[in-house]
Amino acid sequence: MCGIVGYIGKEKTTPLLLQGLKRLEYRGYDSAGLALSINGSLTVLRQKGNLDQLEKIVDHDKLDSRLGIGHTRWATHGEPSKRNSHPHTDCSGKIAVVHNGIIENWHELRDELIDSGHEFTSETDTETLAHLVEANFNGDLKEAVKKALRRIKGSYAIAVISSEDPSKLIAARKDSPLVLGIAESGIFVASDIPALIDQTRKIVIIEDEELVEVAQDGYQITSGDDVLIKRDSIEVKWDIEAAEKGGFADFMLKEIYEQPSAIQDTLRGQLDEDGKVNFDDLLLDKEKIEDIDKIFIVACGTSLHAGMIAKLAIEKWAHISVEIDCSSEFRYREPVLSDKSLLIAITQSGETADTLAGIRKAKEKGAKIIAVTNVVGSSITREADGVVYTHAGPEIGVAATKTHVSQIAALILLSMFIARQKNGLDDSFFQKIAESLSKVPEKVDEILGKAETIKEWAKKYHDVYDFLFIGRGVGYPVAMEGALKLKEISYIHAEGYPAGEMKHGPIALINDGVPVLAIALKGKVFEKIVSNMQEAKSRGGSIIAITDSDDNQIRALTDDVFVIPESDEMSSAILSVIPLQLLSYFIAKERGCNVDQPRNLAKSVTVE
Ligand code: AGP
Repeated sequence: MCGIVGYIGKEKTTPLLLQGLKRLEYRGYDSAGLALSINGSLTVLRQKGNLDQLEKIVDHDKLDSRLGIGHTRWATHGEPSKRNSHPHTDCSGKIAVVHNGIIENWHELRDELIDSGHEFTSETDTETLAHLVEANFNGDLKEAVKKALRRIKGSYAIAVISSEDPSKLIAARKDSPLVLGIAESGIFVASDIPALIDQTRKIVIIEDEELVEVAQDGYQITSGDDVLIKRDSIEVKWDIEAAEKGGFADFMLKEIYEQPSAIQDTLRGQLDEDGKVNFDDLLLDKEKIEDIDKIFIVACGTSLHAGMIAKLAIEKWAHISVEIDCSSEFRYREPVLSDKSLLIAITQSGETADTLAGIRKAKEKGAKIIAVTNVVGSSITREADGVVYTHAGPEIGVAATKTHVSQIAALILLSMFIARQKNGLDDSFFQKIAESLSKVPEKVDEILGKAETIKEWAKKYHDVYDFLFIGRGVGYPVAMEGALKLKEISYIHAEGYPAGEMKHGPIALINDGVPVLAIALKGKVFEKIVSNMQEAKSRGGSIIAITDSDDNQIRALTDDVFVIPESDEMSSAILSVIPLQLLSYFIAKERGCNVDQPRNLAKSVTVE
């Protein structure tokens, strides 16, 4: 995830910025940079790679600055490279900007700015902002930033400096965190508290849509409608480890709670209100998609479960047959592929060896390849014809959570995109799905607000030997994911099964008190899964339901029930997986397991 640090004060800026950026390293990044105000001009230093690379080009003796901004970049628009790394500058090199977030309307703004003579040097959305500030600059940096931000759609935390107005640093935020740090020697701006903790514990939280003008000896916050806001600092008592986890006990829990914004960021700029999907890096036009007669999906683990939902969506909406396989099987079987086949490879890391091998195999047979990944510039992006990005930000916990829900969101978009090209479903259908998707982040928030209920369940179920998860339709991949999550972090034996298959064998596992968790979603298989729950109950199982149907029939049948908000069929997979992530998390904690680094597992599996 990108990180921002800025400073204005009496001390030398460069070491302070580097130290702050170092504190943000744990979040992952691919390049870094600084912009320093020195004797009436800006010096910008940027490097691909880690901070050591940046430090190699820093000559501390020559960089005598008291105002500067720094950034660690996690690529979203444009590959990881020196020219795409922040800070970005305007044409004159007198304005420098660092930015976290996504500018949705950057294409149109960029075209407009190019038409009026601005020259761009990177592929990023952020550079647009530097030129927009330039276009509005009249000697007052704050006014210029304010005007520029009025043109921006999307999310941002920004810090801006100018050699033309060197007594201030301007920062602002919308849907992306930003804080000030008040130190003896001056004032810091940062995207996250860990960046400041070595310098100060006096923190001012900047709220959404606020802009702040920071000088050496004070700061002035204004709201979106230009009202002056008085806000004092708070004292943070976190140690560095707690600060890195944002006050959560573990990265996994932090990442579970980041899911509303991960989904929001994945939808942002890729889906408009009319249900039109825009993928910047897909590179497959209507004709190529019309030509496809079969789709293959390959992935591993949690990514495979996201793929199972995509299969249901594509077949239902686009009426194209989809085969899905785990990558390690696909690479050694003889799938019937041709140049009319499309392979969708899903991998949050972009580095999974089996999935990469699957791609190569499909390519040999002439298939077109779309990669769905969370990491810009990862191996898979170089091997695929087109890429769909999830924008979940880096995930540190080994158990995939926010990357998984972002995959489902991105795959729903991809399914909509294919369906639109392929069979011309009417516009109102896509509008309805778009409307429903846009409400998913707040519904996830609502579910997270009821985490205490799941915590109580964990106390009851943490010492079982077996745990069964059952589902039908989209509930089936969710059940698979619930079982995988529980296995990987709590080491309890768990099975995820299609509910209708239970009677063909696994039902023999059920006896008194074995928990059977059913994903019971309204729709054409609702009554069927209710019958399957009944079958499990009559064999002594403890029945738990995750359901969007709060009715007496379910209540009478279950020992525990968690009601999720209603949604469209496909995105209800996102809503129903959240309680399962929480359940695994709380059970694992009850059992004293290390949830962030479970035994025998790695975040990215780069070997066969
Ligand atoms: C998920 O919690 C697991 N850590 C694992 O199943 C993971 O999803 C799998 O290894 C695939 O990884 P990828 O998405 O990076 O390809």
